[in-house]
Amino acid sequence: MAAVTAVTTDTQEAEAQAAHEAAFDAAVAAEERIEPRDWMPDAYRASLVRQIAQHAHSEIIGMQPEANWITRAPTLRRKAILMAKVQDEAGHGLYLYSAAETLGTSRDELLDKLHAGRQKYSSIFNYPTLTWADVGAIGWLVDGAAITNQVPLCRCSYGPYARAMVRICKEESFHQRQGYESLLALSKGTPEQHAMAQDAVDRWWWPSLMMFGPPDGESAHSAQSMAWKIKRHSNDELRQRFVDICVPQAQALGLTLPDPDLRWNEERGHYDFGPIDWTEFWDVLKGNGPCNEQRLDRRRQAHEEGAWVREAAAAYAAKHGEARA
Ligand SMILES: [Fe+2]
Ligand SMILES: [Fe+2]
Repeated sequence: MAAVTAVTTDTQEAEAQAAHEAAFDAAVAAEERIEPRDWMPDAYRASLVRQIAQHAHSEIIGMQPEANWITRAPTLRRKAILMAKVQDEAGHGLYLYSAAETLGTSRDELLDKLHAGRQKYSSIFNYPTLTWADVGAIGWLVDGAAITNQVPLCRCSYGPYARAMVRICKEESFHQRQGYESLLALSKGTPEQHAMAQDAVDRWWWPSLMMFGPPDGESAHSAQSMAWKIKRHSNDELRQRFVDICVPQAQALGLTLPDPDLRWNEERGHYDFGPIDWTEFWDVLKGNGPCNEQRLDRRRQAHEEGAWVREAAAAYAAKHGEARA
């Protein structure tokens, strides 16, 4: 008798599982949002946590290269803008860690993994900011590439991630414009300022193209992410879109993009561009970039120094909770 009951339960479970999967697939196909309490495949949840964590880590590590220039900004106006921008990036990190929490992974857990070097952040932030013009080049190119990547994420199938991206993209758009405007001022300034702007663009152009990730054929998670509608366009497609946007902007800036192969292809209706040095990409990803160690050390240090703030906030919340109870 007991054996029969077990078999019945197994069959019922399998049927329930199949019904869940069918409902999930139908919701994704119908462009509906998957919400935190909805059933979702374990692999979908894990893939989202991986992507959102990497994105959140990039936002907060990304504060470092530019914060480097806050005390040396050339005018009060530039300083105020840069401080607002760096602060925005902290906010982006918070929205994203919160989005990951809706999937059952705490911020503490994700930060521990970042600090232990077990989760990645965007390799672009392992390059140094050598001059003031780098702040402009980062705004124009790095935030510009981020927007190109992130606008389609506003339609991501997972609701909390998609909604976080709407606000993030609006703020990124401000970042991109401030970078562009700052580079324009330098480009139209003295010959030394123009040269500084050109040098920054020369150094940031190729790493920005690498931000879209490896070529489609070598991208480990792309196909499944697109099937789940987490991702909407392939890496190469987004990279091409970014190049097409940047070429006329560089012309308007009076700056040159450092690629002799860059030219309009009438047949394709896109700009052709030269080969990307993927050895450099994989090398920086493995931890051998110019600033990998410095960025992670600084992050760990900031986390340790902020321990008292977290403790005070927790104590306050507990006291507040008791008073309410
Ligand atoms: Fe951001
Ligand atoms: Fe940004």
